[in-house]
Amino acid sequence: MDNFTIVIFGATGDLAHRKLFPSVFDLALHQHLPDEYRVIGCGRRSFSHQEFRDMVLRSLQDASGNAGFDDGVLNAFLRRLFYVRLDIAESEGYHRLYREIMDAAGESGVCTHLLYYLAVSPGLLPVIVGNLSVAGLGGKDLPCTGWRKIIVEKPFGSDLQSARRMNAAVGEVFNEDQIFRIDHYLGKETVQNILVFRFSNGIFEPLWNRHYIASVSITIAEDFGIRGRGAFYEEVGLLRDIIQNHALQLLASVAMEPPVDLQADSVRDEKSKVLRSIRRHTPADAGSAVVLGQYEGYRNEKDVDPHSTVETFAAIRFFVDNWRWQGVPFYVKAGKNLSETRTQIVITFKCPPQNFFGPADSCSYTANQVIMTIQPEETIALRFGTKRPGEAVVTDPVYMKFDYRNAFPGEGLTAYHRLLLDAIAGDRLNFIRQDSVEHAWEVVDAIRHSVDGTPPAPYPVHSDGPADASLIYG
Ligand code: BG6
Repeated sequence: MDNFTIVIFGATGDLAHRKLFPSVFDLALHQHLPDEYRVIGCGRRSFSHQEFRDMVLRSLQDASGNAGFDDGVLNAFLRRLFYVRLDIAESEGYHRLYREIMDAAGESGVCTHLLYYLAVSPGLLPVIVGNLSVAGLGGKDLPCTGWRKIIVEKPFGSDLQSARRMNAAVGEVFNEDQIFRIDHYLGKETVQNILVFRFSNGIFEPLWNRHYIASVSITIAEDFGIRGRGAFYEEVGLLRDIIQNHALQLLASVAMEPPVDLQADSVRDEKSKVLRSIRRHTPADAGSAVVLGQYEGYRNEKDVDPHSTVETFAAIRFFVDNWRWQGVPFYVKAGKNLSETRTQIVITFKCPPQNFFGPADSCSYTANQVIMTIQPEETIALRFGTKRPGEAVVTDPVYMKFDYRNAFPGEGLTAYHRLLLDAIAGDRLNFIRQDSVEHAWEVVDAIRHSVDGTPPAPYPVHSDGPADASLIYG
């Protein structure tokens, strides 16, 4: 593998601390990095290389629950970390970054492969790429064969217009095939498995449509709050943080048509079509198909406006207006500080045409379900009615369950680990294409307009969200 340098913007931030450094270390641990790789962290704080290494070490310890590391591997990794102090808005730091890259790489500096990771607030993207370009670190017109790629964290923009502006700004400095828009949900094993489950089995796909499916529910619930990210949440809110990306990507994976093959664009074409087909919400949907909430105490969080109307919860009923899904409700619910942490997709099938086992109207929709749990467990369960042993014919729902961790113990990569590998290899299958970003913003912009001016409903911490959330089920 050719040598390369990973440059992380936002290296002293929460994402880098919790996810990126542990994942880059994992890459090193699994020998997924070349011999002479380097990781350069950029941030506003004034750190020496050593102080930066100490900080990264703390990230690794936190992520592993203080599990011991092989000292040799750990020290070799830490020695490959460097720090450049850089104020994102000022070009001066980018020249320092340039020198850091060139000094280490010597003559071959300009040809070094570079992977930029932007773990920063979405609004900073244009200024970063602009300054990279000024410092001669942009993606285009390399005087040699080295590659330059840029990974951009979601949310990509804050609405449709800003996403377009942002894309135009990045497009000035990087070619489309150098841009990797990340949504780490697409790196999760269980999310990637949705396609495999649907299209590698003959059993489910014939039933996977409006004739047999009554509804689809997608839940992304977390039993913790904003974890000190008040400034970020005030800017973003849950619709932009979770719905525009993670939730709609899950919906697209469940609803998409089979791709013609597994080329990145074949799959992304199909997902994009789903997002395009989602019916846009209107003000008539507020309170019935769209319910937003804010957990009690959110306004007392650090860096949060005491009168904030930012949502930390959303329950939304979607319809996908296409041939396969016409009339099937997709219920999406996501929130902070709910009663449990659980990401789950439930496909509920229609009742059989006749019910011999109870009163005619007693069919329970919940009897026939496919339940895909993304976390905390990684399972797929089939829920079906069965005869309870005994004289009388009494039906009870039971589960047949596949558990990833039992079936493949010790296997699997973390989402960031996998996506970093994909980006290094140039595989764009699990990165979001700009047209999908824009369709998802159209959906979210419509939701936001539909509730315009209505403050989110308060809900108690560790509850199931505002009571009115149940209204979306009609
Ligand atoms: C991030 C959001 O993208 O995803 C966070 O910014 C959220 O608010 C997180 O907590 C959830 O990711 P995971 O992988 O822990 O479910």
